[in-house]
Amino acid sequence: MILRPATEADAVDVWTWRQDPLTRAMSRTPEEIDRHFHMAWFARALADPDRTLLIGEVDGEKIGMVRFDRGSETEVSINVNPAYRSRGHGHALLSQAMQSVGGDVWAEIREDNHASRRLFEQLGFEFQGLRDGFRRYLRPA
Ligand SMILES: CC(C)(COP(=O)(O)OP(=O)(O)OC[C@H]1O[C@@H](n2cnc3c(N)ncnc32)[C@H](O)[C@@H]1OP(=O)(O)O)[C@@H](O)C(=O)NCCC(=O)NCCS
Repeated sequence: MILRPATEADAVDVWTWRQDPLTRAMSRTPEEIDRHFHMAWFARALADPDRTLLIGEVDGEKIGMVRFDRGSETEVSINVNPAYRSRGHGHALLSQAMQSVGGDVWAEIREDNHASRRLFEQLGFEFQGLRDGFRRYLRPA
């Protein structure tokens, strides 16, 4: 797995993965996302010093994205390319990405997102509590 910063050339792939029904079902905003809206969001995200978008590649194929949003704590989210799920890539992608951040890192995971819960728990995230059907996890610094 090679991890690299996202570029404008990744915008459509990231949008396609975000449109995937499972991704939407596991999100707080399950509605379909308009392509133009996404392209504008993506350009802003690339320029935002408080956001980091990383793309994982294996053998030249884009496997997924990890996003870090920095505030008082850092929030992490992950989306694996639907064509590559459930093959261990999510674990490789997140564990490698986590090596690039320090401090407290938190994530919100839907109660019924068993793959994601398993993934984050394996990587040292601790369950903090449940709110609105989402479990909050923290990886302490
Ligand atoms: C959640 C997600 C990132 C996991 O990545 P992945 O590559 O599919 O998962 P991995 O193959 O690395 O497996 C991670 C763990 O989840 C388990 N798992 C994988 N797919 C699963 C599934 N469909 N159901 C239940 N558990 C599953 C694996 O067995 C593994 O646990 P193990 O090591 O105990 O066997 C990925 O499925 C995804 O992008 N889902 C849609 C978006 C999403 O939910 N993002 C997270 C929002 S918090």
